[in-house]
Amino acid sequence: MHVDIITAVPELLRSPLEHSIIKRASDKGLLQINVIQLRDYGLGIHQQIDDYQFGGGAGMVMMCEPLDNCITDLKTRTTYDQVIFMTPDGQKFNQKMSNRLSCFGNLLIICGHYKGIDHRIREMHVTMEVSIGDFVLSGGELAAAVLVDAIGRLIPGVLNDETSALTDSFQDDLLAPPVYTRPAEYKGYKVPEILLSGHERKINEWRYEESVRITMERRPDLMDS
Ligand code: ADE
Repeated sequence: MHVDIITAVPELLRSPLEHSIIKRASDKGLLQINVIQLRDYGLGIHQQIDDYQFGGGAGMVMMCEPLDNCITDLKTRTTYDQVIFMTPDGQKFNQKMSNRLSCFGNLLIICGHYKGIDHRIREMHVTMEVSIGDFVLSGGELAAAVLVDAIGRLIPGVLNDETSALTDSFQDDLLAPPVYTRPAEYKGYKVPEILLSGHERKINEWRYEESVRITMERRPDLMDS
């Protein structure tokens, strides 16, 4: 998968995308992430990318021209399956969307800053608008990092144990069961007996029952769906 990310603050993306599983995916050649500095397409000697909003009101708006020039330039090299704008008024991100996006070959992600981006860019170029939750971040970068992390780990070959993504929370509308490692007893707290039994079928049953119990307790809304 190839992901291009347009941002005015590349530093915000570097660290989250250069470690752990996402780094491994890049090293294996399964995920290629290219961060594009929007300011390189900025206007004039100050490389301006934002301006006051028409109609008044606090906060700057990211201008059409730098974004349009940047996106148009990228499109001469890549045909994108989706052009995604990270925004709190977008469709709420979830595991199903993550699964769907992980099947694509080429994604372009636009990170907004300030008050947002000129609406015409959304009309001209954006095919999907995604929110990572009902709260407002200071920019789309951290949201984009969340999206790429969630998608990247689903690309076949990225995780060592291929099945481990399948047992993640939300993968079948259930939260994951509790997990334990050695020692079997710590400060009087014991690992459930069944997990030490070696009885695979019973262990799987226990995990499933725990998943259902925890989901009913914490997220009954997931069970409704
Ligand atoms: N940009 C600012 N807040 C955001 C959010 N909640 N989700 C996606 N992008 C954002």
